[in-house]
Amino acid sequence: MKVIQVGMGGMGNAWLNAVTASPNVTYAGFVEVNDAIAEAQAGKYGLDGGVIFQTLAAALDRVEADGVINVTPPQFHKAVSVAALEAGVPVLSEKPLAGTLQEAAAIVDAANRTGVLHMVAQNYRYRSATQTLKKALDSGVCGAVSSATVEFFKGPHFGGFRDEMDYPLIIDMSIHHFDLMRFFLGKDLVAVQGQSWNPPWSWYRGDASAAVNLTFEDDVHVAYNGSWCSQARRTSWNANWRFECANGVVMMVDDVVTTQTLASTPGDGLEPAVGDPAVVEAVVMQNEGQAYLLHEFYEAVMHSKPPVTTCQDNIKSLGIVFGVVESFQRK
Ligand SMILES: NC(=O)c1ccc[n+]([C@@H]2O[C@H](COP(=O)([O-])OP(=O)(O)OC[C@H]3O[C@@H](n4cnc5c(N)ncnc54)[C@H](O)[C@@H]3O)[C@@H](O)[C@H]2O)c1
Repeated sequence: MKVIQVGMGGMGNAWLNAVTASPNVTYAGFVEVNDAIAEAQAGKYGLDGGVIFQTLAAALDRVEADGVINVTPPQFHKAVSVAALEAGVPVLSEKPLAGTLQEAAAIVDAANRTGVLHMVAQNYRYRSATQTLKKALDSGVCGAVSSATVEFFKGPHFGGFRDEMDYPLIIDMSIHHFDLMRFFLGKDLVAVQGQSWNPPWSWYRGDASAAVNLTFEDDVHVAYNGSWCSQARRTSWNANWRFECANGVVMMVDDVVTTQTLASTPGDGLEPAVGDPAVVEAVVMQNEGQAYLLHEFYEAVMHSKPPVTTCQDNIKSLGIVFGVVESFQRK
């Protein structure tokens, strides 16, 4: 399978590494609008400068490709994805699906109209830690989930487009956690209410901190607290999660998953006794993150195996993002 990668900047490196390591996928070409980045990446990865183009139209004209990997910033996702779909070329796009819900709907329309695959790289689903948490929840050992608390605190100084976004945390980052909520719970959003703010020391133009209450189907509640300008005691990128269940608690702290359930022995008269917390054995994955998604894309395009995070499904995760933003604007 041959692909064109559009965008060779920061996250472009993860895809360059995934494609280079893949036994099934090779490059037909690249598109990069910034010549200095194109040149630097060609040097770093030993790429043929003759197949690095300025526009996707030029690339599609000059090289044969079975797929496009869209690694541009969110505001360019629609233009790149729709152009590829209309040319009949399947797309594997970086998250978020698009920069706005209207642009995302245009991508879904184009995918439905052309019948060409568009899938979104929700790589956080395909990590050992998150797969282990999903396994612990699905095992039923703690019983049905009633609520969850999610804490995410990081302090990255990216520079670039994120520093200028209106809601950098929610739009560029929390999409992963909102998509994980749908993945862990197997439920969709019903209602949301939240507040965002920008701490005085924030280096972002838009709000980098938020507290959100989300209601999912079957009256399951999630409290999400996050910041992208936390100065210390940072969490994992996957966040820390605590699920309150009928028979115990499932937690993931610093990517370690534990369960604790009610014990059969009597308690102290006030609280029932609980067993010792049990560490859940980590799921071993052959491919994680971008490598997993690249393989799923290959299987979908070359062997017609349906992928999970299609644009038609993923617009529900992006819908949470923009539902949250709308709730901020109602305050
Ligand atoms: N899945 C993850 O864990 C993860 C992590 C980081 C970034 N991302 C996503 O990856 C995407 C890119 O982010 P990044 O950090 O690499 O940004 P970046 O700014 O570092 O790189 C983007 C590159 O795209 C190029 N570009 C812009 N418009 C283009 C166009 N129309 N055609 C060709 N090239 C174009 C830019 O010149 C730049 O080199 C974003 O959607 C971001 O949210 C995902």
